[in-house]
Amino acid sequence: METTRTSPLAAEFVLRRANWRDLGAVNELEKLCFPLDAWPLIEIISVLTFPGVVRIKAMQGQAMVGFVAGERRQGEKTGWIATICVHPERRGLGIGRALLEACETRMGMERVRLTVRASNREAVALYERCGYSQVGEWPRYYAGGEDGLLFEKVIAPDLG
Ligand SMILES: CC(C)(COP(=O)(O)OP(=O)(O)OC[C@H]1O[C@@H](n2cnc3c(N)ncnc32)[C@H](O)[C@@H]1OP(=O)(O)O)[C@@H](O)C(=O)NCCC(=O)NCCS
Repeated sequence: METTRTSPLAAEFVLRRANWRDLGAVNELEKLCFPLDAWPLIEIISVLTFPGVVRIKAMQGQAMVGFVAGERRQGEKTGWIATICVHPERRGLGIGRALLEACETRMGMERVRLTVRASNREAVALYERCGYSQVGEWPRYYAGGEDGLLFEKVIAPDLG
């Protein structure tokens, strides 16, 4: 998989499958993007190696500028976005949207779900612009006691 995308503002970026060799770069990006919720290394190793997980990186030259991971839960007919992040200096250029849409496509599930901190306005804006709606709220879900908002996008209705 390799998809080259351009936006009017951004230099060209390329989406590629990520794998365990990206451990260091994903770890750096997570720390930069999630001051409160950065995953421990073991979680990053899991998403980069477990079967059933879609992992895609956005590259500009040799630099990883974005990452998304989504888990296919076949029993629930649902794909879960486990993490999505874009380098702080490369935001607002369409990279987050491209990562999210590529992950949805590769998961190939009937619906996609995710949770987000209630205060995370940038992420909520991304999800709403990409067709997600809030379907629930998980009180005190995050570290520090912040509520989680549950968002969902129905890709293909279940016709039974
Ligand atoms: C959320 C995040 C991934 C968005 O990435 P991004 O590359 O800046 O997003 P995009 O440029 O693709 O923007 C996609 C849409 O979201 C909207 N959006 C993104 N950031 C926004 C902001 N700060 N204010 C308003 N709208 C915003 C844009 O309007 C855009 O809509 P459009 O394509 O119709 O114009 C990025 O801000 C990030 O990494 N945040 C920190 C990590 C994080 O919180 N991840 C989510 C955890 S649940």
